[in-house]
Amino acid sequence: MHPIRRHLLAAASASLLLPPLLSSCAQPRPRDVYSPIVGQDGKDAMWVPTPDAVVERMLDMAEVKRGDRVVDLGSGDGTIVIAAARRGARARGIEYDANLVALSRRNARQAGVQADFVQGDIFQSDFSDADVVTLYLMPEMNERLLPTLLDMKPGTRVASHQFGIGHWPPDRTDEVAGRFAHLWIVPAKVGGTWTARVDGEPPLQVELRQNFQKLEGDALVAGERFELALPRLRGPAIRFDVRGGPAGTMRFEGTADNGGRINGTVLTAGAHPRPFTATRA
Ligand SMILES: C[S@@+](CC[C@H](N)C(=O)[O-])C[C@H]1O[C@@H](n2cnc3c(N)ncnc32)[C@H](O)[C@@H]1O
Repeated sequence: MHPIRRHLLAAASASLLLPPLLSSCAQPRPRDVYSPIVGQDGKDAMWVPTPDAVVERMLDMAEVKRGDRVVDLGSGDGTIVIAAARRGARARGIEYDANLVALSRRNARQAGVQADFVQGDIFQSDFSDADVVTLYLMPEMNERLLPTLLDMKPGTRVASHQFGIGHWPPDRTDEVAGRFAHLWIVPAKVGGTWTARVDGEPPLQVELRQNFQKLEGDALVAGERFELALPRLRGPAIRFDVRGGPAGTMRFEGTADNGGRINGTVLTAGAHPRPFTATRA
């Protein structure tokens, strides 16, 4: 059996064991209340809820805090959205199945939290305002979302239950209760050639080669090419050392926007930090 199908069926049957265990303390439900069935078909993925321990770890990894805009894509019965709202986030779910949307709204009301549920197709929805995106979707859906996720503002956190997002390597993976929780930080787009200007120094040409959040490159200093040391990119935050030029080691630490500018400071041994600005050459 295909491993993805095996995971979802195992997850669904584990969830199906819960109702009998809970039935002794469950409140009787009115007959007309909609009860989804774990493993039921959805538009592009079936409905299987994320267990609470995994939800909490995903929100911890994404450092969800009061006021963050959190969006769960394919929000099912609202489990992740409601947990995020409990942390004070402005939480929103996008779910195709209208019955699940209605159920999520009821669940949020019962939990006493403010949350927003939108009925719609995640591939036709705009969630570019989110600070945090959560996913428990099929790998091919994650892969289809990859360009949209990479176009989000640098620093947006993306947390996925179980599955990866194409070839984008996670920044962190945890194992929780036999499942995986992955985290990615959307990197700024910094690949290309830059001219960095530092007070008191001739302009420096820096070539950055970027593969998702992985960075390497070199700098042209006084006609000589030096490989960048300790390059690091986390969201909009960028850092690298230029070693061996006339000024000795220069540590560049800055913030990149996607508009073609990096601003920050340069640290050189024995000198005060100096501001630098880099623009695309
Ligand atoms: C595996 S469940 C995850 C539910 C919830 N995110 C959680 O982790 O508990 C996937 C959900 O995505 C929904 N879904 C599938 N395709 C969708 C689409 N194209 N747009 C919106 N929702 C979709 C399904 O109805 C289902 O509720």
